[in-house]
Amino acid sequence: MANMKYIPCLALGALSGLVCSLPATAADGLSVEHLGTSNTLVRVSDDARYVLFPVEESVDDAALTLLLDGRQESTFYVRLARNKVDYYVPFDISRYKGRNIIFNIVTAQGRSSVREASDDACWKTICLSDTFDIADDVGKYRPAYHHTPLYGWMNDPNGMFYRDGVWHLYYQYNPYGSKWQNMTWGHSSSTDLINWDHHSPAIEPNGFGSVFSGSCVVDSAGSAGFGPGAVVALYTSAGLNQMQSLAHSADGGDTFTVYLGNPILTLESEARDPNMFWNAETGEWNMLLAHALDREMLIFSSHDLKTWTLQSAFGKGLGAQDGVWECPDLMRLPVEGTGEHKWVLICNLNPGGPFGGSATQYFVGDFDGKTFTADTDAEGRVPTKWMDYGKDHYATVSWSGAPDGRHVVIGWMSNWQYAAEVPTRRYRSANTLPRDISLFRSDDGGCYLKTVPSPELLALRDRRVTSVRRKTVGASPARYALPADGLCEIEMSLNARKASAVTLTLSNSAGEEVVMTYDPAAASFSVDRTRSGLTDFSHDFPAVVTAPTLASSAPQTVRIFVDRSSVEVFDGDGRFVLTNLVFPTSPYRTLSIAAAGGKATVSDLGIHSIKTDK
Ligand code: FRU
Repeated sequence: MANMKYIPCLALGALSGLVCSLPATAADGLSVEHLGTSNTLVRVSDDARYVLFPVEESVDDAALTLLLDGRQESTFYVRLARNKVDYYVPFDISRYKGRNIIFNIVTAQGRSSVREASDDACWKTICLSDTFDIADDVGKYRPAYHHTPLYGWMNDPNGMFYRDGVWHLYYQYNPYGSKWQNMTWGHSSSTDLINWDHHSPAIEPNGFGSVFSGSCVVDSAGSAGFGPGAVVALYTSAGLNQMQSLAHSADGGDTFTVYLGNPILTLESEARDPNMFWNAETGEWNMLLAHALDREMLIFSSHDLKTWTLQSAFGKGLGAQDGVWECPDLMRLPVEGTGEHKWVLICNLNPGGPFGGSATQYFVGDFDGKTFTADTDAEGRVPTKWMDYGKDHYATVSWSGAPDGRHVVIGWMSNWQYAAEVPTRRYRSANTLPRDISLFRSDDGGCYLKTVPSPELLALRDRRVTSVRRKTVGASPARYALPADGLCEIEMSLNARKASAVTLTLSNSAGEEVVMTYDPAAASFSVDRTRSGLTDFSHDFPAVVTAPTLASSAPQTVRIFVDRSSVEVFDGDGRFVLTNLVFPTSPYRTLSIAAAGGKATVSDLGIHSIKTDK
């Protein structure tokens, strides 16, 4: 899958339908030999780019061991179809050209005879192909302007770094199914943070286990010994234990060599998701590791990225503690409008988020290269602060080396509560829009993250389909049409001093709606997706989420990004964000604005259609 673009392919070979009509025992170039009720050999005898494995999502994994010239190369897991084929996943065999290729497959138990096992749908539908089509899942919910994998499952963003105009984004990836499994670092890159090129997986499971989350840096000075400018990745090897491993890249992050001295760090208890950065103040590397079950972050330092010295632990008993701590990040950010800088420690937590499941909390404080000390509030307590108040914002971390002193973050736009159940098929999960972060002081004196859509996203705006300078609204709603494809950015300023609430409703002809409510007295902004479309795939999905606006004075400005399966609401000044998935059965076509308890004024309303070729 070298450098596949997200362009539905037209030459689809055997894959355009869901079932290949092939003889019961073999497709061209493949032979299927049943050794026992749960053991089958598939021999490949032809050159082709891919073996296409048929998947049925609801069955258990089969273990597939690839034998090359009789030797065991790797084992991976696929939910091989028993009753019906939900979709196919490609296994690239072009790299093994000229070798003898056999898959030794152990399927889950459950059949009583070889004859019964040989009736499984997968043996009739497995096939070879030179092409792989993703077109059949492009339609309804695949985002038009958010990063998604071409196919397969995705969770955390990993190892992001920026270099020479290119934003690299790796991610927790299952190339062989749309549920969590076979953790691999998938790889995409972009020059504008909007359009993503998709590359071959960058780091694949190896003898130490699968490849969990981690980070990358560009080692300009070559301190790790892999040459100046090498890209160095640290990730968690997850086998019997969780250990930290290193891989390095000499070609700018396209391919990585796994370090032979791995693991570079082992601890007695579960620790994962190494996040490292160059600390210019101390002239050392720092790394944070999530001490997941102990609900604290471990802080290390190093001169060579290989030998790490534990300096301290942060967080025991602090902040939200109702879940495991994962995916840390630590960075020095400016406090807007002051000459001041503070350190921010990002801590992803699952479950235990403010509205259930996964969420991202953060701590503001000081860091001396060894110890992070969180600021306390007027009562002497360390306050719990949330980076995003939506249900679908997790594993958020920042790009290393972003230009112009920027700090750009991206999060996984889902929630472990239902990520594997959302109604998409060939792929699962998208990332949030990229956001630039800094700090601000609120009216209460507290220091909070300011989160704004990255400026690159202005390029998404196509036409301003609606422009209203000023409009007074009351109980009967003012209605505005949204673009036919439902894709838009909506901006406006709300003056609600005389009203008790203003509601902004996105709706479609099926009566599905997302209701956003600004309550000036409570200084809160909420999003209700209980009637947003498909919601019953998980009882945790229907939800009303609420953010504090952290501002007492009007007006309240917002920027709302609507994609095919998400709504992201940003406060115009970056004081709060709410990121939520939605699955309307048809696009939202109307925005209605109403005020309760008195009149409200809407000004500078702009509805922009979105420039996209997807
Ligand atoms: C967070 C996480 C990480 C881990 C990865 C595994 O979502 O649990 O802690 O490295 O996912 O896929």
